[in-house]
Order: sequence, then structure tokens, then C-alpha cells
Amino acid sequence: MDFKDWRCLEEKVKSCKRCPLSLSVKNIVLGEGPIPATVMLVGEAPGAVEDEVGRPFVGPAGEILNRLLAASGLKRETLYITNVVKCRPPGNREPRPEEIQACLPYLKAQIGFIRPHIIVCLGSVAARALIDPEARITQIRGKIFCRAGIYFLPTFHPAALLRDGGKKLLALKDFKKLKALWDKLEKDLSSGVS
Ligand code: URA
Ligand code: SF4
Repeated sequence: MDFKDWRCLEEKVKSCKRCPLSLSVKNIVLGEGPIPATVMLVGEAPGAVEDEVGRPFVGPAGEILNRLLAASGLKRETLYITNVVKCRPPGNREPRPEEIQACLPYLKAQIGFIRPHIIVCLGSVAARALIDPEARITQIRGKIFCRAGIYFLPTFHPAALLRDGGKKLLALKDFKKLKALWDKLEKDLSSGVS
């Protein structure tokens, strides 16, 4: 799908009926953050609070994400944050493959306009949609992949840390890796290395 500009993409998403998830939502959550942005975070799908408010990661998973960002020296407002699917699946079930396929052109278009250097995949749904359809998050988290000139860094979904506290340290390690990579890119850019 081609969109003339960001506003056109926004209008299309706001009125989207490409999959049945549109039938049960209060708000479609496109995402938030600066455009362009050096770093993009991609989660799975809006949850109950996100659906209510129309913003990504503002519920319990968002609180964990905020803590991870703060603990790694990252400012939330400097990142673009979105999800693989823009509508909340009923009862927070995982989005189905056909729903992901229906929604993916929007994420791809967002990436085109936002032009991130680094994309952090939060959880296996994002990692499978963007890095490798067979990916297992426990095996690939913390590794950096380079695709089409963009670095991809998969890590656990913040909600997984709510269920399994043992993953918190690993997630923190991954966010610190993100900070280090970002710092290095900025340093290289300012010294003219491409
Ligand atoms: N979980 C997600 O994957 N995304 C959100 O925006 C909120 C919870
Ligand atoms: Fe459209 Fe995506 Fe919502 Fe499905 S999830 S209705 S494709 S915006």
C-alpha cells in the first residue's frame, strides 16, 4: 500500500476495516513519537487501557516499559512507539496471522516515513513479523540483526516480565544494548562515519 504522506496513512488507519478486529475496538492505536525517529519500538497489539485511551503502552505493560527505558537512560518521548496490529484483539488474545497480514502494510509504511535506524521488537509477534517468521524470542533476544540498512533488536515483551520476573534482568540488558548502539550511531554520524 502506498500513502502520499503521513496524514494520508493516519486517515486510512483511523477508518480501517481491513480485518475483523475493527469491529470491537473503541480506539485504533496508530502509535506515538517523533517523525522521523532514530529508534522505533514495536509491540504486539493494544491492550485494554490502550484501546480506551488511543495511545500505545499506557497500561501495565507500558509502566514496565517506562521503567526499562528510564533504567537504561532512554527518554520515552524520543522514541516512536507502535504495535504490529493497531486494534485490540478481544480479551487480549494474540492477533491471528491473517490479522497481522492485514495490518502489516501500515507498519511498513510507518517505517518508511519514520526512517528508524534501530527497530526494537518487543516480543515474539513483532520479532516474527519483522525479523524471522520462525523466530523464538528466547533464542534471538538481545541479538542484533541488520536488514535493509536497519538494525533490529528483539527482546521480551514487557508483559512477559510481569509473568516471569527472571526475565527482567535480561530485558534490562537488552535495553542497555539499545542505548549503547544508539550512542554509537550518533557518535559515528557526528564524526562523519556512515
Ligand atoms: N501490549 C502491547 O503489545 N502493546 C501495547 O500498546 C500495550 C500492551
Ligand atoms: Fe485495520 Fe489493523 Fe485494525 Fe485490522 S488491526 S482493522 S488491519 S487497523
